[in-house]
Amino acid sequence: AEIQYQDFVVKEILVKRLCKTHRVITVNGQYPGPTLTATDGDTLVIRVTNLARYNITLHWHGILQIRNGWADGPDYITQCPIVPGATYVYKFTIINQEGTFWWHAHALWLRATVHGALIIYPKLGKPYPFDKPHREYPIILAGEWWNQDPNEVLRQATITGAAPNVSDAYTINGRHGDLFPCSNQGTSIFPVVSGETTLFRIINAAMNTELFVSIAGHLMTVVAADSAYTKPFTTTVILLGPGQTTDVLVTADQPAGRYYVAARAYASAQGVPFDNTTVTAILEYKFSSCTAIHGVQTMPPPLVPLLPAYNDTSTAAAFSAALRSPGPVNVPDPVNETLFFTVGLGLFGCPPGMICGGPNGNRFAASINNVSFVLPSTLSMLQAYYFNVPGVYTEDFPPEPPIIFDFTANNISLSLQQPVQGTKVYRLKYGSAVQIVFQGTNIVSGEEHPIHLHGYQFYVLATGFGNFNPDVDTKKFNMVDPPERNTVGVPVNGWAVIRFIADNPGVWLVHCHIDAHLMWGLAMAFIVENGEGDDQSLLPPPVDLPIC
Ligand code: C2O
Repeated sequence: AEIQYQDFVVKEILVKRLCKTHRVITVNGQYPGPTLTATDGDTLVIRVTNLARYNITLHWHGILQIRNGWADGPDYITQCPIVPGATYVYKFTIINQEGTFWWHAHALWLRATVHGALIIYPKLGKPYPFDKPHREYPIILAGEWWNQDPNEVLRQATITGAAPNVSDAYTINGRHGDLFPCSNQGTSIFPVVSGETTLFRIINAAMNTELFVSIAGHLMTVVAADSAYTKPFTTTVILLGPGQTTDVLVTADQPAGRYYVAARAYASAQGVPFDNTTVTAILEYKFSSCTAIHGVQTMPPPLVPLLPAYNDTSTAAAFSAALRSPGPVNVPDPVNETLFFTVGLGLFGCPPGMICGGPNGNRFAASINNVSFVLPSTLSMLQAYYFNVPGVYTEDFPPEPPIIFDFTANNISLSLQQPVQGTKVYRLKYGSAVQIVFQGTNIVSGEEHPIHLHGYQFYVLATGFGNFNPDVDTKKFNMVDPPERNTVGVPVNGWAVIRFIADNPGVWLVHCHIDAHLMWGLAMAFIVENGEGDDQSLLPPPVDLPIC
């Protein structure tokens, strides 16, 4: 195992996109940020210096950070932010993890441009569970691109209580593709060779949008999701919620030429505005007769793939349902904790004297079990927990919603729409087997919610539409080969059931990876207590951990 040192300097640069020059916050002046690679067992030491004008933290999405929440990153959950001018060194070891991960800012909306791929290769001599591909490319889908500063979009939405402005375009590896103005030179090209196979490590780094992805003329074989290998299956379209990753193998088995890799929104909420643009990159056959004779420039224009309609919920659900672990796994059973979490939107009233931009003159809210999460501001929760500082959070997060009603009904009464605010945690004993039923609600509007659990991978036992019914739906649990993930899409007006063993002590955030929902409070946190021995206990904080 090696120690990998990296210097990350957070700074603003000028970037030209969509015919205009923008100021963009980046790591090391790169958008997207640098791709980190390491091998399972390596230790990463990443020195982050903040030269931008916003407080920042970085999160290593999918890395377990066993006993080491100090390196996890969400601001005010596991650390105070790195203030402008300051430095913090994230130090963590990869313990039995490999695959596609990513890193991103976890403060304000800095994640819109501060993100990058994190690829962990298997230990030396351990092959992939599929034929070695001839080449690998990361594909970062994102950056909804706003012509405005994304943090300004956030600020305006916070002030007015309205939905944030939708983005102006998406990007693939930082580029919009040649369907956009002034973007002809701005297309990501993935060179491939006839007959050879490429592994694409696809990351949805978008702020607020689930995305369908297809490649014209080519099938994709899904081999991993959220860094866990899957039973391979072949498809023409994949779906990724923000936070999710999917690895696919693509064989260049078509006539030599150029084929679009394209992504477009899956917008599950009814009547809510979204960015309906199509972002493209190009799969380009090399050494084809066409290239040799005419050169790449004169090759015929690329073929556009067929993408599902923006509201194609059945395609979205079918894709998620097709994911399986490669073979039988040990599903935690029986469970010690049976939690039922409603996830969805809500409303806050408008303070007197203010004009609010949310539905019917209210402000948007979001909640889990009717608690709208409020970030602490004086200290991080992990520091408060470790040092026994009172007043930062309360331990009364409810294990189920205060009232059971028809969560997916169309007209839910106003009295059920207003969540309470709080910084509430739920405490778990070390080693307990936990089941969570996430139940989507149709308060204000139903929408698919990609729910991310920090510090863990979990099994997704089942998903479905409507209200979860234990009598019927428990029978649908896949106890044999459920997929392992860190971010689960809770279907629009539906439910998802996950299980995990709480064996990583610390404070771990659970949240919707749609940042608009996170800002409205769709989050909660677990405290996982220490176990018996030292090797089951949270490590002490690093000396340079920022204080608030
Ligand atoms: Cu990828 Cu809490 O985040």
